[in-house]
Amino acid sequence: MVDNKKFITLDGMDGSGKSTQLHLLYEKLKNEYGEDKILITREPGGTDISEQIRQVLLNIENKKMDPMCECMLYAAARVQHVNEAILPALAEGKIVLCDRFLDSSVAYQGFGRELGLDTVLKINSYATNGVEPGLTFMFMIDHEKSLKRKEKQQQLDRLESEGSSFHEKIYQGYQKMIELYPERVVEVNADDTIEHIHKKIYTLTKKQIEK
Ligand code: TYD
Repeated sequence: MVDNKKFITLDGMDGSGKSTQLHLLYEKLKNEYGEDKILITREPGGTDISEQIRQVLLNIENKKMDPMCECMLYAAARVQHVNEAILPALAEGKIVLCDRFLDSSVAYQGFGRELGLDTVLKINSYATNGVEPGLTFMFMIDHEKSLKRKEKQQQLDRLESEGSSFHEKIYQGYQKMIELYPERVVEVNADDTIEHIHKKIYTLTKKQIEK
């Protein structure tokens, strides 16, 4: 079994500033450990095949997509990502920083699309190959606020353009993850300042990788 200690994910609501924080964290760790010791990646994506699946998933034209099809495509992208990128990097002792992982499927497909927690976990038991993050930062923001931030963007993707009740359900899903996995999940108040959040997640990441 590969050691998952250095597998760190940032997850949470759309428009919570998590991708900005991921890059700040990456820059800081890169200066300390060197570029070749860190993999920065994202879901859906992170490999050529997974990025192609991402195009299908986020395409605003694909309005007819069945929730189960959606869930399985995220899982398909994930298994390729895990086996081609994440596991090899962990085996080499690298730090893996990943924008979204299984928690997103639980929140969006399990709660948002109402497929249920158990169904999503069952489908993903094939996708994760037994790998789970050692540490997850969960970016939580009131969905009205996150919507306001997203409205500033020019183009919303298929998931982002869903209505506010969908995002409310996602919020509940993330709350559930925070409750269920306190040993792995750290809640981040995305309303805090960029500097405070950065300091918090950097400190906890250092503690985790030097454990
Ligand atoms: P992305 O542009 O990467 O969103 P963000 O910048 O907010 O992280 O798009 C990914 C979208 O896919 C996002 O709306 C969340 C959604 N998603 C799922 O619904 N299920 C999943 O398993 C994953 C990984 C993402």
